[in-house]
Amino acid sequence: MKITQLKTNQIVNPLGFAIDKPTFSWIVEDTADTFQTAAQVLVSRDGAFDQVIFDSGKVDGSGIDSLAYRPPVALESRTRYFWKARLWGETESAESDAAWFETSKMGEGWQAEWITPDCEDNTLHPILYRQFDLPSRAVNARAYICGLGLYHFELNGEKVGDEVFTPYCNAYDQWIQYQTFDITSQLAVGSNLISVMLGNGWYKGRYGADKGVVGFYGDRFALICELHITLENGDDLIVTTDPAWKVQPSPVIESDIFDGEMVDARIKKTPSADHSFGVKPIDLDKTRLEARRSLPVCINEEIEPVAVIHTPAGETVLDMGQNMTGWLRFRTSAPSGTRIHLQFGEVLQGGNFFRDNLRTAKAEYTYIADGTDAVVEPYFTFFGFRYVKISGWTGDLNLDDFTGCVIYSKMDLTGEIETSNAKVNQLIKNALWSQKGNFLDIPTDCPQRDERLGWTGDIQVFSGTACFNMDAAAFLAKFAYDLGKEQTKTGGMVPHIVPMVNLNKGGSTAWGDVATILPWTLYEFYGDVDILDQQFESMRAWVDYIKTIDESSGGKRLWTEGLHFGDWLSLDIPVHPDPRRGGTPHDFIASAFYCYSAELVAKAARLLGKAEHAEAYAQLSAEVKAAIQTEYFTATGRLAVPTQTGYVLALFMDLVPDAFREQVKDDFIARLRKDNAHLQTGFVGTPYLCRVLSNIGANDLAYTLLLNEDYPSWLYAVNLGATTIWERWNSLNPDGSISSTGMNSLNHYAYGSIVEWMVRDMCGLNPSSGADALTGFRAARIAPKPDKSLQWVRARYRSAAGFYESGWHIDEAGHLTIKIAIPFNASAAVVLPGARVGEISINGHPMHDGEQIGDSVELTLATGNYTFEYFIRDKAVRA
Ligand code: BGC
Repeated sequence: MKITQLKTNQIVNPLGFAIDKPTFSWIVEDTADTFQTAAQVLVSRDGAFDQVIFDSGKVDGSGIDSLAYRPPVALESRTRYFWKARLWGETESAESDAAWFETSKMGEGWQAEWITPDCEDNTLHPILYRQFDLPSRAVNARAYICGLGLYHFELNGEKVGDEVFTPYCNAYDQWIQYQTFDITSQLAVGSNLISVMLGNGWYKGRYGADKGVVGFYGDRFALICELHITLENGDDLIVTTDPAWKVQPSPVIESDIFDGEMVDARIKKTPSADHSFGVKPIDLDKTRLEARRSLPVCINEEIEPVAVIHTPAGETVLDMGQNMTGWLRFRTSAPSGTRIHLQFGEVLQGGNFFRDNLRTAKAEYTYIADGTDAVVEPYFTFFGFRYVKISGWTGDLNLDDFTGCVIYSKMDLTGEIETSNAKVNQLIKNALWSQKGNFLDIPTDCPQRDERLGWTGDIQVFSGTACFNMDAAAFLAKFAYDLGKEQTKTGGMVPHIVPMVNLNKGGSTAWGDVATILPWTLYEFYGDVDILDQQFESMRAWVDYIKTIDESSGGKRLWTEGLHFGDWLSLDIPVHPDPRRGGTPHDFIASAFYCYSAELVAKAARLLGKAEHAEAYAQLSAEVKAAIQTEYFTATGRLAVPTQTGYVLALFMDLVPDAFREQVKDDFIARLRKDNAHLQTGFVGTPYLCRVLSNIGANDLAYTLLLNEDYPSWLYAVNLGATTIWERWNSLNPDGSISSTGMNSLNHYAYGSIVEWMVRDMCGLNPSSGADALTGFRAARIAPKPDKSLQWVRARYRSAAGFYESGWHIDEAGHLTIKIAIPFNASAAVVLPGARVGEISINGHPMHDGEQIGDSVELTLATGNYTFEYFIRDKAVRA
């Protein structure tokens, strides 16, 4: 037995994060035991556990919860705590290694001052530096630091840590994150140099909607920093930003998130009295500084270019073989003054370099060489690209000199799916790459053009897929925190983008519902009710905002007002002058989400013990549902909104009157057949489309949609060589030409939400229903829905409760093999489709258990690996 994945607040050994209530989690592996008979947690001030400050004692049963255990300890600031878990199963026990977390400055004030270069020109990129002496060896040292817009922090000429894009992206007008670094090993006895380069970033550069604005959050570079150093001789020393710091011009001449960066390597980073000048204090509110919540953003992968292309237009272009987010690192020894110029694009057109779909984002990098051997990469910008056009290169172009640095917030990959179909496998990969490409501190719509914003609708539809692919708990909790902060400015209205930057608008259905759906998804996947606690006011404020609109427009318990994005980019006949807003009436979509969100608030309230709220929002949801049933269903049971998305929402959100359910299902299937079994849905309908089909007896149609290769379909893009998910079903035309340039990204994850169907239905892996204490995969519902159009599928998921597996293989004769694995201390309700009690073998032996429910056999199983075999009888499984 082994205890692994020890995390505090969903992060491995967090240093200086915002932690009010430490919450521990872990999983158990490598054991034949099936359940926890007892557990114990110890918290100590030292790694040897000589100074234990909390001992839970051996607690029987599941009294200590491995998904979220909150020890009652009071925390001190700037202090490291160690913890470990002991665990007992039926026959064996284990003790974990020590994990730790270290607190931030917590409520302590700042001794340091915010400083800014003492010069008029606020475009001049500075290096701020200070020299200081240490009389003896440092035994423990931390830096608490924040630089605006972005900072690159060096000690004695070496970068501190491996993070880029600090201090990250959030609603800077309300809170600014500072980071904590352990700098002990980078300090020397004697003279030390701290130097910090600053870039524009999201705070000070061009950013926001409609091409963005420059300096939305601030127009001055600024730095605040405290080094707390304990010396071997016992002395404590603090180095702070103050008037003694110096500034000199940085080799970075220009930097911008959208436009890129220019570096002149002839300008040296080493301090020189000749080029330096002073700093002055800047009046920035120190109370806005908060301990970080953002995960580190790092170079998580490096890829080599696959080809150098000499285009018909005479350009030299590198092909990375993958649409990615990050930058191109290169090695050069070009003569001093040589200008190497890189431009980034997603797709070639006519064999030539192309970047028109990046709109006004220049997305370029210029390096002016100093004649030395150098390894070059940007400091303060990133690109979304597959192709890089290179000009100004001197000498031979050698592929070995280039590396694609793939940059995203550091998260473990937790889920993988494989199938017998190579194109489907590519689609799954594409969704993962779009997640990597758009999880750079905030969940964005796209990483390449002049946008890269935290569009709420996009992550609303993709969050389930995201939580399967990666351990996204802490990443998305930070985004949700920002969202809640923004809502305090808007009276509960959810902005279209978070942070709001310059787009002072919001309140669109399905986009705003990120406020309820995202926390609920996180709760379902990770099983810690604390996210609902953190977000409850935000969830409630959103539904209250809708209710206020409803009340002011007659109190019909429908949401019929306002400007909505609708079923964005769907393919049916538009209901709005802006054809992108889809073919499903917005009042229907808005009312459906009103009902759904009110129900989620009620469920959250119930879990949080807020009985009054639970009742009030359940009542509200019921009233909205009744109003929808009156307004949108005919007396004879037809849905008055007969679009694919109309049916999908009605069925997924349980809005159909019971008496009409069968008819509406049939009508939906008929609708799809009329549409030639091709999808027409946009952002709103797509995530639930196949999920509904698989659960209304039309599983075969879900597979048809998955496997269609002609337009419109998911595999249409795969056939055209997509390596990420496209924004539009037809981002490229069948001949590979781009369909438009105004709003057309090739790296936009929304339609990647099909992966959630693959997880939940194709492979059948679901967290338990969510209304009880068994979420986070403490219990699962494993209900695979095979179809003969694939030979086999297999999902493996390291859930918050441990490793699950679910997959199947089906042969021509209909012989079905289902293999599942359920982790330690978990259980699963297993649904075997098209089966008969008495005709199934389990692990090679006849199975006598199970209940016949319709065409399926259902049984509950504890921890273990199981193989079921039988001849499938389900008529829905095509021959
Ligand atoms: C974004 C979308 C976003 C939409 C809102 C677009 O510009 O790229 O993904 O959700 O606007 O309608």
